[in-house]
Amino acid sequence: MNAAATRRERRAARTVREVRLTEASTLLAGADARAALALHGTPLMLLEPDRVRTQYRRLRDALPFVRFHYAVKALDHDAVLSVLADEGCGFDVAGTEELTAVREHGVSPERIIHTHPVKKPSEIADAVRAGVRTFVVDNPAELAKFAGLGPRIGVLVRLAYRSPHAKSDLSSKFGVGPFEAAHLIEQALAQGTRIAGFSFHVGSQLDDPQRFGDAVAETLALMDRLQAVYPVRFDTLDIGGGFPVAYEKPVASIEAVAAVLRPLLEPRRRELDIIAEPGRVLVAEAMTAVTSVVGVAERADGRWYYLDDGVYGAYSNVIAEDAHPLLFAEKELGAGEEAVEVHRWATLAGPTCDSADVIAREVLLPDLGPGDFVVSPAMGAYTVVTASRFNGRPAPRVVVIGSAPESGSMDAVAAPHAEGLRVRTGAQTVAPALT
Ligand SMILES: Cc1ncc(COP(=O)(O)O)c(C=O)c1O
Repeated sequence: MNAAATRRERRAARTVREVRLTEASTLLAGADARAALALHGTPLMLLEPDRVRTQYRRLRDALPFVRFHYAVKALDHDAVLSVLADEGCGFDVAGTEELTAVREHGVSPERIIHTHPVKKPSEIADAVRAGVRTFVVDNPAELAKFAGLGPRIGVLVRLAYRSPHAKSDLSSKFGVGPFEAAHLIEQALAQGTRIAGFSFHVGSQLDDPQRFGDAVAETLALMDRLQAVYPVRFDTLDIGGGFPVAYEKPVASIEAVAAVLRPLLEPRRRELDIIAEPGRVLVAEAMTAVTSVVGVAERADGRWYYLDDGVYGAYSNVIAEDAHPLLFAEKELGAGEEAVEVHRWATLAGPTCDSADVIAREVLLPDLGPGDFVVSPAMGAYTVVTASRFNGRPAPRVVVIGSAPESGSMDAVAAPHAEGLRVRTGAQTVAPALT
């Protein structure tokens, strides 16, 4: 990269940082967040369901002919399920527990798809019993499990597209190429199973709209070829998830990805039910992590701060996804980073006794002491859901900030991570939009 491009990239990253700092400042200054922190202490995850609603509406407006199914695995909190159920969004589940959680929000089975390509027969039976009719397969053994289930079940064949630039290239674990896809069609015809169409996942956090577009184009071309050869008529195209999030640097916006996909998909909208399974893009920005400094030590490599949550908790995304969450000291909020005079490089570690429990190294922070808060924005996706109980620590508590989902249904349902207070207020946190 030349010097000008490097300068441009640094400037853009600074802008993301400034926007995230403003958002966190507004959130932490609010009465709701202060009350929640006073009541529960840290670690605490502040969840703003209204931001999920906003993201859903952006997706829907950008691709109005696509039916979105939220990938519950990204964050299965009841407030998220409630707000999306209320908006009319569909759901993508990966197992019986997620299916049960979604059904408890009164979502009808036609709005639910089961996309795990490898399932226990009992999971298929649970989902069929609940009324789910769309499933995904990517191998003959899996397809064989659908023999005898009848034509009301529509099976999608998952294709694999390599996405080395994605944070998580899912094609190494799941999906088939065109040749194997043809074999699965033959098997389905022989066993009397209806192949409804195809699905793929371009890779999570893929900042490459063209790659997404290529996957759509290749899949449509394959569907046309297979329909010409076999006595099949496909009715569904599932374009998966993958929409990226501006964590610490800018990425293609929802609208930019949609601009590439729309001309490819729109001409097929009458012939195909076009569906998608976004996860991260709906929830990442809706949750902010607040931790406290527990201890401070000077080591050979400089200052270390030990926080009350780490990579075995909500910062599990650091390990699982190679995420680099922004880390602000509370002192920097409001006044801005420049207002704090002394900054020093520090290592931020989690609370367990494991040396792998390091959230970030070489973070420029003001001097901190025990009890000071550290704040990470955009911590909604693949964080608390992948947290473990290592060292006996429970996953961090999630509290809901802002107005309640309009249906208000979540109060009636036990929330997996929300034993705590539900803060209700009319006041919304307002921050400049990033993308
Ligand atoms: C089958 C499937 N669908 C959807 C998603 C959601 O992807 P993303 O969060 O990148 O939108 C995932 C993520 O792993 C997935 O495995």
